[in-house]
Amino acid sequence: MNRKLIAGNWKMNGLRVDLQTVREIAAGLAASTAAPEALLCVPATLLAEAARQASGTALCIGGQTCHSQEKGAYTGDVSAPMLKEAGAGFVITGHSERRTGHGETDEIVAAQARAAVNAGLTPIICVGETLDERTSGATLKVIEGQLTGSLDGLEPNSFVLAYEPLWAIGTGKVATPAQIAEVHAFIRQFLEQRFGKPGQTVKILYGGSLNPGNAAEILPISNVDGGLIGGASLKAGDFLAIYNAAAALTV
Ligand code: PGA
Repeated sequence: MNRKLIAGNWKMNGLRVDLQTVREIAAGLAASTAAPEALLCVPATLLAEAARQASGTALCIGGQTCHSQEKGAYTGDVSAPMLKEAGAGFVITGHSERRTGHGETDEIVAAQARAAVNAGLTPIICVGETLDERTSGATLKVIEGQLTGSLDGLEPNSFVLAYEPLWAIGTGKVATPAQIAEVHAFIRQFLEQRFGKPGQTVKILYGGSLNPGNAAEILPISNVDGGLIGGASLKAGDFLAIYNAAAALTV
């Protein structure tokens, strides 16, 4: 069984005072090597200090996006080598808030993911359908298109995927276990067709209103290898409750 990955996405939240939450989460993790992996993707401004405070603990720190180029005239952007140097181990790429708010296409997402891998980071590549796409029955077709484009040029052991239905992000609306199981099985099948045997072990996270109340129901679903958690990752107690729900499955 894949070791589960419980990943927090702080989005545009977090000032220095919130480093206390990083310390509380790091202190609350299990020490065992069989325990789930834990990750917090914090704002770029907090990354170096969060990584310093998490060092020597089981908590990994990650970024939330990166540019596809290593350096250059890209005002306001952050490159993968910059994140790596600041202490990141992972970076989210293609989050729906970047795809819709910043016009990031599958092609751009793939280039960012390749840049992350080249810098020694593990990209967490996000895919997911809108409510309109789901109600019109286009979910699997949309996911297939996003996977085909966003994984271009990547090796199977170099990235993590996250399935995040857009209508479930930050809305309190969670996909049903049957909906999650269907899409995750579809993604697994896609990965096996594309990569063969190594496609069986690529981690696929679920994201979208995951919280302490539903984690124990969602995390055991077949092909769910962890979670990408927005709102509930801002509170140490909530993040740790989700982490403990994953840990309870590994013992
Ligand atoms: P949410 O966000 O848990 O607040 O729904 C998930 C995400 O956007 O990664």
